[in-house]
Amino acid sequence: MAGLEAAASAGPEALAAELDAARSRSLGYTDLAEDDLLRQHSPLMSPLVWDLAHIGNYEEIWLLRALTGTPELRPGLDGIYDAFRHSRASRTTLPLLGPAEARGYLADVRARVLDVLAGLDADQLLPGSGQDRRERLLAGALVYGMVIQHEHQHDETMLATLQLRSGPPVLDDPGTGRAGSAGGAGGVVVDDTAEVLVPAGAFTMGTSTDPWAYDNERPAHRVHLPAFHIGRFPVTNRAQLAFIADGGYDDERLWSAEGWAWRCQEGLTAPLFWSRDGDVWTRRRFGRVEPVPLDEPVQHVCWYEAEAHARWAGRRLPTEAEWEKACAHDPVTGRSRHYPWGDTDPTSEHANLGHGQARPVPVGSRPAGASPCGAEQMIGDVWEWTASGFTPYSGFAAFPYREYSEVFYPRSNDPARFRVLRGGSWATHPSAVRSTFRNWDFPIRRQIFAGFRLARDADAS
Ligand SMILES: [Fe+2]
Repeated sequence: MAGLEAAASAGPEALAAELDAARSRSLGYTDLAEDDLLRQHSPLMSPLVWDLAHIGNYEEIWLLRALTGTPELRPGLDGIYDAFRHSRASRTTLPLLGPAEARGYLADVRARVLDVLAGLDADQLLPGSGQDRRERLLAGALVYGMVIQHEHQHDETMLATLQLRSGPPVLDDPGTGRAGSAGGAGGVVVDDTAEVLVPAGAFTMGTSTDPWAYDNERPAHRVHLPAFHIGRFPVTNRAQLAFIADGGYDDERLWSAEGWAWRCQEGLTAPLFWSRDGDVWTRRRFGRVEPVPLDEPVQHVCWYEAEAHARWAGRRLPTEAEWEKACAHDPVTGRSRHYPWGDTDPTSEHANLGHGQARPVPVGSRPAGASPCGAEQMIGDVWEWTASGFTPYSGFAAFPYREYSEVFYPRSNDPARFRVLRGGSWATHPSAVRSTFRNWDFPIRRQIFAGFRLARDADAS
């Protein structure tokens, strides 16, 4: 159970199981030597031991103090583990809890949280129209959903840190169970450049009813879009290799001015973690070097690379609204689905999520997860860059705190600094992604598990 079903049956026991599942994951990713936890593997990332104690501190703030009014367990931790007070690059200089201390703190918080949870009435967790802040936090188990998703989001961040780490592998590699370059499902070769048509019309974007949706996904609103085509699959490594072979990284005409400046400054010639060995392209994945599998969605490209590739292909990136319509809009019922395939929680047949495998799966491998318009692998595999900046929907109201979304929106007269990504990656837990889920990052970022999908206007050839 995860996500929608957890929220729907949000009894204390179901929530305790969800909290426990997230914790197993966090402890698994930090079951490492002390040096690996304390070291900064990249200036882009926190030391892993910071993420670990931050997870506990966030849980203490929301599931203990906000619900019960109890005082801080360890005064001073809030400042150290406030993500807004300290850049990731500076976090090694803080008086961090050591690994053993951090684990002890997490266990202490969790034991108290479970006591509070056990004392709640299932009625208090039903979706409702609570008036005071505590009632609103409990309605639909919103605050529990927030903390569970937060821990899984940090677990994905920790995976990005482990991908940046150098040295021999520390993670098991579950593998795909088949050769990555042998085509789609069971060797069935699909046309990885196929497109699907999304007819013109209105659809419902965002949500006003999903209890675990973040404030930035709200409220639901109608959006009318002209007809457009969108890729049936995310762009593959095969297509990215063709872009490279055609000189795409060296052709200034394909890049925006900012993108070209960044490409030149950083000397970009291929996705992050790729290397060329004679005629063979390889990639490094969690410390293992392997040939680039042609049929997997490309990952570790920044927004500027995605934009240049799209221009090279005679396409463009989809807007955020186009992406969501292609993912969720059901033309038969007129409503938007929680997931492309419907409202039931994801299984491994639908989507490659939750680190079942430490990589995207070949395109064509998840036909059961197709959306009503026929787009596949929209949820899972790789986050997909969209053309859109991160801005609030009309009617947005920050809840329960401004620092989740609002502080990232453009300031007045300031262009959007962040680009929206949609759909989650292979590393994303099912509870932390849905058709309406919005992620965002700087257009230069490549360490995240992000790729893209192409689109074009329907009247353009
Ligand atoms: Fe956080």
